[in-house]
Amino acid sequence: MQPIILDTDPGIDDAAALSVAINNPELDVRLVTTVAGNVTVDKTTINALKIISFFGKAAQIPVAAGAEQPLIKPFEDAARIHGESGMRGYDFPAPTTAPLNQTAVVALKERLLASSEPVTLVATGSYTNVALLLSEYPEIKPKIARIVAMGGTLGQGNMTSAAEFNVFTDPHAAKIMYQAGVPIVMIGLDVTHKALLTYDTLQAIETANPAGKMLHDIIISDGDQGATGVAMHDVNTIFYLLHPELLTMKSYWIDIVTDGPANGATVADVRGAYHDGKVNAEVAVDIDAAAFNRWFLAEVRHMHH
Ligand code: BDR
Ligand code: CA
Repeated sequence: MQPIILDTDPGIDDAAALSVAINNPELDVRLVTTVAGNVTVDKTTINALKIISFFGKAAQIPVAAGAEQPLIKPFEDAARIHGESGMRGYDFPAPTTAPLNQTAVVALKERLLASSEPVTLVATGSYTNVALLLSEYPEIKPKIARIVAMGGTLGQGNMTSAAEFNVFTDPHAAKIMYQAGVPIVMIGLDVTHKALLTYDTLQAIETANPAGKMLHDIIISDGDQGATGVAMHDVNTIFYLLHPELLTMKSYWIDIVTDGPANGATVADVRGAYHDGKVNAEVAVDIDAAAFNRWFLAEVRHMHH
């Protein structure tokens, strides 16, 4: 079993990633922390609790609420895509538990220090909590096996021409994370815009079981839909954890732009000239989109509501 901690801002694709992670028998989700991003942190926290309660796992998986706003930049949400609640499309019952009585950063520190083995940190929101953790408690670094982070792009952004949403929302946090000396896997738009969940897959999910119906209903309400399918950005991180052989990776040094028209850009040192060939990230550059669809449907079929 892979021990993981999920730092997230549900968010429709975050909710889908969380659903797969907590139901997959190969993943041991030790903690879920929330951050402001798609919507405010009070809403992302409620949404995480709703998903965990939906699957009857509230007793096993603690949730800790994190940063209310980025380190420096003013907060801007993405409610136009994810709805006012952050998870529109399905009428969830109220969650059965409350968040922990400690902040995300303290919960992360304590759980990591208490772990006998390094833990994979999966970040599917902005990296504000991660940056605060790494800068306030650098002693936890050996307990982080790697950070698998959705965000960034080697090509065009989805927020501005240059920047992807998670990095754009808190570029200063992204900069701290990429400079922390912890292994990073960047799952960016280069793959998440390829691995679209097709409308055929979505139809099969709808009729699979009650969990599939819930996921279908929230995914279909996503404001970011293309003609051939819906990008499930954050779900790609979980796919990577379980099937790394189905993605193509390249090693680069990634720098983060923190101002100007390219604010939030993830710049890869593709010529290896600027950083002397040193690398700080494994960057996903290609993915088997058909396998991603088959895998997601199979994961849904195994979910118990
Ligand atoms: C990222 O932005 C958010 O809106 C999604 O949840 C995902 O994490 C994609 O750019
Ligand atoms: Ca997200």
